Amino acid sequence: MKKKHKDAPLIRIENVHKSFGSHHVLKGVSTAIYRGETVALLGGSGGGKSVLLKHMIGLLLPDEGEVYVNEQVISNFSERELGEVRQQIGMMFQGGALFDSMSVFKNVAFPLIERGQRDRAEVERQVNEVLEVVRLDGMGDKMPSEISGGMRKRVALARAIIDKPACVLYDEPHAGLDPITADKIDHLMKNLQTELGITNVVITHEMRSVFRVADRVIFMKEGLVYFEGTPEEMKASEDPELVNFIEGNSGQEWEGERV
Ligand SMILES: Nc1ncnc2c1ncn2[C@@H]1O[C@H](COP(=O)(O)OP(=O)(O)OP(=O)(O)O)[C@@H](O)[C@H]1O
Ligand SMILES: [Mg+2]
Repeated sequence: MKKKHKDAPLIRIENVHKSFGSHHVLKGVSTAIYRGETVALLGGSGGGKSVLLKHMIGLLLPDEGEVYVNEQVISNFSERELGEVRQQIGMMFQGGALFDSMSVFKNVAFPLIERGQRDRAEVERQVNEVLEVVRLDGMGDKMPSEISGGMRKRVALARAIIDKPACVLYDEPHAGLDPITADKIDHLMKNLQTELGITNVVITHEMRSVFRVADRVIFMKEGLVYFEGTPEEMKASEDPELVNFIEGNSGQEWEGERV
């Protein structure tokens, strides 16, 4: 989707700074996410990708600068208003973050219950619908410990999309997955974009996936946006930083177990 963006962005980050104690993690990040696109957020470990993603749904607030969702500054939003933002923007956390003591069904239903949906039949209908989307139909009664890593990721994805968000943020959805299962996640993301018009922002180290699903790349280095462009532009670049990243994150041998 190579196009000039005339529309207002869905999420706009303007000169965001964030420190933890004396550790200055985000050093003036400015960027934007547009409706309907799939953006890959890339960069070396510890560069601030997860921290930036958490700013996009107000889980972290900037020390300086602003985060806009639908052109509204979210820093001074009340918890209720932030709740509305999180209904529009779903997040799949690094590591999946399922509740181990809850069944797959309850994990997926959680966002609906949380925002006060009490109609049992409606909850059931939506959970079943979304489990079907991630190809886990009939798995609702399982506990997270009883299913594979790839399936847990798909449960986390089901939970992120159950409340029909306009945008989904994924923190390393491919990590720890074999290539076939990682492909399934890619297909799911692409389907959400093409069939439901969902905007995707995905942190990943898998260049294979980036070239397959991303319309645009935002590359972070040391707390700043270092490069923005299409995957093709990134590939064509002779910048050693980008060349090294691509070389270091392409086609590694898979050493984990198959799911
Ligand atoms: N809540 C926190 N408290 C203190 N330090 C934090 C917190 N969250 C993140 N950091 C620090 O901020 C820096 C950036 O972290 P972040 O998780 O954003 O990196 P990342 O780019 O996502 O890296 P990775 O690819 O390893 O996931 C790290 O040094 C991390 O230790
Ligand atoms: Mg991270």
